[in-house]
Amino acid sequence: MLLLVLGTAAGGGIPQWNCACPGCSGARAHPRRRRRHASLAVRTGEGRWYVVNATPDIGDQIEDRPELHPGPGPRQTPIAGVILTDAELDHTLGLARLREADGFEVLATDPVRRAVRERLRLGEVLAPYTDVTWRELPGHGPGVRISGIPVSGKRPRYAADAPDDDAWVVALRLYDPASRTSVLYAPALADWPERLQRAAEEADCVIVDGTFWDDEEPVRTGISSRTATGMGHLPIDGPGGTAERLARLSARCLYTHLNNTNPLVDPAAPQHKRLARLGIEVAYDGMVIEP
Ligand code: MLT
Ligand code: MN
Ligand code: ZN
Repeated sequence: MLLLVLGTAAGGGIPQWNCACPGCSGARAHPRRRRRHASLAVRTGEGRWYVVNATPDIGDQIEDRPELHPGPGPRQTPIAGVILTDAELDHTLGLARLREADGFEVLATDPVRRAVRERLRLGEVLAPYTDVTWRELPGHGPGVRISGIPVSGKRPRYAADAPDDDAWVVALRLYDPASRTSVLYAPALADWPERLQRAAEEADCVIVDGTFWDDEEPVRTGISSRTATGMGHLPIDGPGGTAERLARLSARCLYTHLNNTNPLVDPAAPQHKRLARLGIEVAYDGMVIEP
């Protein structure tokens, strides 16, 4: 299995267009600190790729990676489709940027497909441009097996009144039968249910939500009146934080989906040493993972 990390930032990216916080200002001054919206490309077969979550940066993210470039035919792309972990805008707005394709697949759970098709109206809007095939998770077929582990009922604000369903957000499980390796990708964690714990214990590589360092961060930095947990993101640090859970796993563990307020966006922050001592990594844009 081969994974390309296409982006590692939470909604807004780093820098975020309207933000002058230290993280965003630091990224303007030091371009290597920039992070595009969190996304991953997974190779499911020779010359066949799926992009996990379609971010507003998807066009640039594809251009950044020669493996994802078109050819040899004039409009031939190695990208077969998009897998969605949830229906949040930072993970779905990029679908509209793929409208030049002859067609592509979207794999997602039922509530996520309904939100994108009926609330964002991307089914109707894209139909005159491209042939989108909307498919349920798990995805079947040759090569890497793709399934979703329901994580939480957290739904996007634009669908706040939509029905309850614990498959609004999933952790993606990517399993390669050839190498018998599995990866768990969960960029949005409002909760850590028992089934997620079991999947994490079986995985070789676990990549999870690192939006906020601690629960008070959004309030302290003035971006929200809600805590991290209140915003639907388990914090990294503190009791009930994800770091203590990851530290107990035997898998290679990484954080992604960093918010621009997270101290980890500064490479000199002492928090990096804290994680390194626990054996936990922070993913970066351009990282290649071969589990
Ligand atoms: C989230 O991760 O909680 C959402 O993407 C928030 C947002 O950007 O609307
Ligand atoms: Mn997000
Ligand atoms: Zn900022």
